[in-house]
Amino acid sequence: MLENEYLMQHYVRDRLGEARAIAAAAAVARHASTAIAPAGDDITYTTGRALDLRKVVALYRANHWSSADKPRELRRALRKADAVIAAWHGDDLVGLGYAISDGALVVYYPHLLVLPEYQGRGVGRAIVDRLRARYAGYHQHVLIADGRAVDFYRKCGFERAGRTEPMWIYAGADH
Ligand SMILES: CC(C)(COP(=O)(O)OP(=O)(O)OC[C@H]1O[C@@H](n2cnc3c(N)ncnc32)[C@H](O)[C@@H]1OP(=O)(O)O)[C@@H](O)C(=O)NCCC(=O)NCCS
Repeated sequence: MLENEYLMQHYVRDRLGEARAIAAAAAVARHASTAIAPAGDDITYTTGRALDLRKVVALYRANHWSSADKPRELRRALRKADAVIAAWHGDDLVGLGYAISDGALVVYYPHLLVLPEYQGRGVGRAIVDRLRARYAGYHQHVLIADGRAVDFYRKCGFERAGRTEPMWIYAGADH
């Protein structure tokens, strides 16, 4: 199925919200239940931006992230990102992180997520390490850590940002 057809399906689901939603949920569940958690050596990492949108959406949906409901925007975001790191087990997309940047001083890491059954195996840290290496020497590496991920980011070298408060205007409800 072409990506545009996939997006059209999503549009139909948004408008009518019936059979296709059920089929998509079943596909995600099949994906989640058939993946076999591997040893760390089995994971490979790529930097291309043109990823299979269905795999990306499945990864976001498996983590209950609201961006999964905006596949068109998600595809555009990844294509416009300054750097994308994808983690693969064979053909399965098991992790993803990306960065946006001014190209000189500041890099911001909007999204990092690992398929639940692959979490705790070093994939998240490997993606962060690759992104940090890409922007080595930059003045600021910035992210907003979900409460449950704070200790993970500490282990990756991040610390609370001085006397700051994260602030946003957010269209989602998943935080
Ligand atoms: C947070 C996330 C990206 C971490 O990726 P991961 O592959 O599971 O983490 P890793 O296996 O690379 O862990 C690296 C280290 O952090 C620790 N760690 C991982 N998740 C942790 C957590 N939630 N709390 C505390 N420590 C954590 C690991 O134990 C490991 O420690 P070690 O080096 O002492 O062994 C992943 O759990 C995830 O996708 N979560 C859901 C989405 C999310 O919250 N993303 C971040 C949004 S800000």
